[in-house]
Amino acid sequence: MSAPPVTALTATPEEEAAIRQAVRTADPALITPTARIATAKDIPGLVDLLSDPLVSGPIYDIPRPIDPARIGAWVARSLRLRQAGEALLTVTPDDRGQIAAYSRITVWPERSSAELAGAQRADRQNSGQGAAGAARSFGFMFEVLGVRLVGLTAAIDNFRSARVIEAAGFTPMGERLSQLPDGGARRSLYWEMTREDWLTRRRLSKVDSDKT
Ligand SMILES: CC(C)(COP(=O)(O)OP(=O)(O)OC[C@H]1O[C@@H](n2cnc3c(N)ncnc32)[C@H](O)[C@@H]1OP(=O)(O)O)[C@@H](O)C(=O)NCCC(=O)NCCS
Repeated sequence: MSAPPVTALTATPEEEAAIRQAVRTADPALITPTARIATAKDIPGLVDLLSDPLVSGPIYDIPRPIDPARIGAWVARSLRLRQAGEALLTVTPDDRGQIAAYSRITVWPERSSAELAGAQRADRQNSGQGAAGAARSFGFMFEVLGVRLVGLTAAIDNFRSARVIEAAGFTPMGERLSQLPDGGARRSLYWEMTREDWLTRRRLSKVDSDKT
């Protein structure tokens, strides 16, 4: 089950309302031009995508076992949570219309905080683009949804994710136990980043690129 960041912020009522409204209305095409909110028509594609252990194996917060009924309920729940301003489940089709990636952003508006999970289809992994793709998602969470804190987890042996997360400037904060939907738990590496740090890094990298 998705868990809020270890650091507990408190949003003002105005901030909380603005985040909820942003989650309801934000366009995932700002992350990737072809990305869209997952709906019932995406259930078979999501089942195909997530049935590959190379895709879903490292992810703790998806329903298991993966079948149309569970994925359908997850899509429906995510749409309800989007209306409440608390989650966004997106899919990215390839040029043949097959789902090539998904992402799920969980938001705690009252804590001005969010978490991200997602995966690329196996043939798109090891693209060398992991850091750039993740950075677009982090920018969307901080700058479009407007949260002040993002917490991320990765399985202990998920070296690619760790690399991508640290390339974005997240601070390693040791380990935490992630609760699995079946009631079990998984040891995870854990990172956090504040919006202030995100914006500072973005400003400094712009200064660097302006110099060159
Ligand atoms: C995580 C994921 C999105 C990354 O995208 P990707 O295109 O595969 O990533 P990249 O090829 O850009 O590799 C990411 C980094 O890991 C490095 N890397 C790859 N294999 C590695 C390994 N075995 N050990 C250490 N680093 C490794 C790459 O060199 C790259 O670092 P660099 O940008 O400094 O060169 C993708 O692999 C994926 O969907 N994985 C399955 C699901 C998953 O793990 N989701 C995240 C859950 S937290």
